[in-house]
Amino acid sequence: MATEHRPEREAPPAAVVKSPLPPVVERITHEDIPAVTALYKKVWEYEPTGLPAELVKSWQPSPLEFTSWMEGVTYFAARRDGHVVGVLGCELEHGSCHLVDLAVDPEARRQGVASALIVAAMDWAKRSNALEVWVEVLARFTAAAALFTHREFVECGVLHKHHWYEDVRVFERLL
Ligand SMILES: CC(C)(COP(=O)(O)OP(=O)(O)OC[C@H]1O[C@@H](n2cnc3c(N)ncnc32)[C@H](O)[C@@H]1OP(=O)(O)O)[C@@H](O)C(=O)NCCC(=O)NCCS
Repeated sequence: MATEHRPEREAPPAAVVKSPLPPVVERITHEDIPAVTALYKKVWEYEPTGLPAELVKSWQPSPLEFTSWMEGVTYFAARRDGHVVGVLGCELEHGSCHLVDLAVDPEARRQGVASALIVAAMDWAKRSNALEVWVEVLARFTAAAALFTHREFVECGVLHKHHWYEDVRVFERLL
């Protein structure tokens, strides 16, 4: 019986490592509330914080609760392929801008999502005549501390046993 001649398979092309496109960052609208609250729920269900459940629950607002968070806080969302993958809030107070409620989808981390949100927040703060941006980070959140250090924020103090008996590190960056 004639043996079938199989052409030698070509080696597959070397994997092309493509860095994902930067996310689109925009101020959120009321239409985004369900996606934003779903993101907070996902992030804080995923994150092994070791913190009291009550505290972690308080970071997972219902759509109604988030509507009241929006009073006095300007929130930005980072989107990729139309999906919300990151959120950050900015609170303007006496010429300084306080960053709050930062969270990035666990599946979209280390791709510059938080960085893009921080750039947008700083730009907005500058246009709002703020002189600095600052943020509080629970000492156990080492990824967030690394992020703000990477974004050239300076650690300006530690509030010992400040929030739910947790040490809180304060980072700021002049504009
Ligand atoms: C902290 C967090 C917001 C970072 O988001 P992110 O989109 O992954 O951050 P970026 O991709 O913009 O990171 C930029 C740089 O920050 C630093 N960084 C970010 N995450 C880090 C980590 N887990 N470990 C070490 N460095 C980290 C790195 O220098 C990184 O640059 P590189 O990836 O080129 O090394 C995200 O991990 C998160 O949502 N964590 C849970 C919620 C939280 O802690 N919120 C902050 C409350 S203050």
